Amino acid sequence: MAELGAENGSKFIFGGWDGAELAAKFGTPLYVYSEEAIRSRCREARETFMERWDDSLAVYAGKAFLTTAMCKIVASEGLGLDVVSGGELHTAMEAGFPMERVFFHGNGKTDEELRLAVEAGVGRIVADGPSELARIEAASRLSGKRTAVLMRVTPGVDADTHKYIQTGHTGSKFGFPLSEGVLADEVGRYRDAEFLDLKGFHFHIGSQIFENKSHVMSVKILVKTMAELARSQGFQTRELNMGGGFGVEFDPRKKSPSLASFTDPMMETLTAVCREEGIPVPGTFIEPGRWIVSEAGATLYTVQEVKKTGGITYAAVDGGMTDNPRPALYGAKYHAHFPGKMDIPRSETVTIAGKCCESGDIIIENLKSPPLERGDLVAVLNTGAYTFSMASNYNRLPRPAAVLVSPGRADVIAERQTWDDMVRWDRVPGHLR
Ligand code: LLP
Repeated sequence: MAELGAENGSKFIFGGWDGAELAAKFGTPLYVYSEEAIRSRCREARETFMERWDDSLAVYAGKAFLTTAMCKIVASEGLGLDVVSGGELHTAMEAGFPMERVFFHGNGKTDEELRLAVEAGVGRIVADGPSELARIEAASRLSGKRTAVLMRVTPGVDADTHKYIQTGHTGSKFGFPLSEGVLADEVGRYRDAEFLDLKGFHFHIGSQIFENKSHVMSVKILVKTMAELARSQGFQTRELNMGGGFGVEFDPRKKSPSLASFTDPMMETLTAVCREEGIPVPGTFIEPGRWIVSEAGATLYTVQEVKKTGGITYAAVDGGMTDNPRPALYGAKYHAHFPGKMDIPRSETVTIAGKCCESGDIIIENLKSPPLERGDLVAVLNTGAYTFSMASNYNRLPRPAAVLVSPGRADVIAERQTWDDMVRWDRVPGHLR
């Protein structure tokens, strides 16, 4: 894989490109994605999960970063795609993503979204609760199609991560609770349904998780449940989707865990506990989002002002919480390089501030940097996941462009919004004209 964030004298090289050249060509702020880095992670998912375990599929969680070009890459790598809204599904359809490999997730799905998913023939709809299951059945009956369904289960496991991105704990807004007997009732109700093909279960316990014990424990809990359903109702679980959440280091000096460090223990546990319980090993899915795309992305900014106040040196850049809300939302920590100044010692301490009217709009606090001045470039690393996809137009800041790079090629995959775009959806009622 082309080295990400490598130095070449003063230059910052990313995906085979000089960061300064990209900034000059496309402007800043700019999301830059390395195609080779995305593909190499997809490859690792294929080699260490799909090729290693029978009847398995890695499904990319599109909420981390989705455009039609990204769908094309994921499709060509042979992975599936997890979508959580009509908009994400529409993106996949526009890209010609094979619908049988699409998983439609999420809570609070609207009837319109369910209709779209059923009619598009998505591979699986993951039901978030009993009444949604009834609505999936109704939508399927209406369109005369049998829909393959997984039921999302909340295993009651507290994953070790920020509480805003924990999802597997008792009382979570997601899924069927395991502890309240609802699951067994629903399996009984739908196991032989004409328009639903109840294939099995799904869990996703949270995001940015580094140790594998919560995933492994969830697998054990789910297999016990599957065994109980087999004993009490003769229900055979054919599929288990074990979600995503595999953590990524934001500091490039540390190495992120491999996918196999999660999936091997999960699969070994699955196989062993199924054997103990005397039930067949189901087909499996995983849903990495961040793990596929985080390190493949960097954001380029231009320093607008350098200001010293109260003992702090602020470098204010031309973007901020609008293109990356993660520091403000989760206290996420990032690391940055300084294109054009890679060979200058980091003798100063600087706080990289966003330009939004919020004191909390700080991208990186207390970062060692070379002396900075107006016009310098900042490349924030590891911003491929949950940045573009969570961007907003707060302060009417246009969303930056995203470019996909590989040695010798740099293509815009999402256009930069303009100031005109900021007023495009405004309407002035007659009496104000
Ligand atoms: N599957 C399901 C059902 C999910 O809800 C998610 C993420 C994933 C898979 C992928 O998780 P990943 O492998 O990317 O951790 N905005 C937050 C992360 C929210 C994750 C939501 N669900 C952040 O920026 O950290």
